[in-house]
Amino acid sequence: MKLETERLLLRRFTTEDVKEAYNYLGDPDTMRYIEAPYSEEQTKEFIRNYAACDAAAVYALVEKKSGHLIGHMIFHPYGCEQIYELGFIIHREYQKQGYGFEMSHALLRYGFQKMKLHKITAETVEPNEASRHLLQKLGMKQEAVFREQVFYHGEWMDEYHYGILAKDYYADNSVSVE
Ligand SMILES: CC(C)(COP(=O)(O)OP(=O)(O)OC[C@H]1O[C@@H](n2cnc3c(N)ncnc32)[C@H](O)[C@@H]1OP(=O)(O)O)[C@@H](O)C(=O)NCCC(=O)NCCS
Repeated sequence: MKLETERLLLRRFTTEDVKEAYNYLGDPDTMRYIEAPYSEEQTKEFIRNYAACDAAAVYALVEKKSGHLIGHMIFHPYGCEQIYELGFIIHREYQKQGYGFEMSHALLRYGFQKMKLHKITAETVEPNEASRHLLQKLGMKQEAVFREQVFYHGEWMDEYHYGILAKDYYADNSVSVE
């Protein structure tokens, strides 16, 4: 999949991406609610896996004006072909500029309008306010809380599950249908 918005581009990873991918995958702050920061070797393996993968599930997120790889988006089937999971990670220095919303919104549009998906789902942990705000801004509803489901940084955290159905998406008056 290749997707373009006003300021961003979504594309497959290539082996050239290792250095810039390490900038965010190796950054403890950016990775805080995901997993331990990656080593350079783990980053190379990550790129090898996703650059070589035909049915990609993880896509490189590029800032058009600089050409920099600034993060990645996850978009793949979740349990069945009509339900997809959405995920995102953006390098700390590129956060809070509306990029997460811009590309997630484009993926919702692509998923519902082009792929005719039934539902898009996402997960995050309770203290990840940025992620929860973004999911709510996308019109996703909180559907479940798995209490103390994830152990990060020496503490148990609640895992929040969000979802949006095609009918919720189309009921939103701000949605423009192609
Ligand atoms: C979650 C993440 C992708 C958000 O991306 P972003 O580009 O910074 O988000 P946006 O700028 O599009 O902001 C979307 C909304 O979230 C809000 N938001 C962003 N960061 C926030 C923060 N740290 N705390 C509270 N709200 C925040 C914004 O204000 C905006 O809402 P508004 O328009 O009502 O003001 C980014 O913070 C990130 O990559 N975090 C590290 C990786 C991660 O935790 N990924 C999620 C794993 S589940």
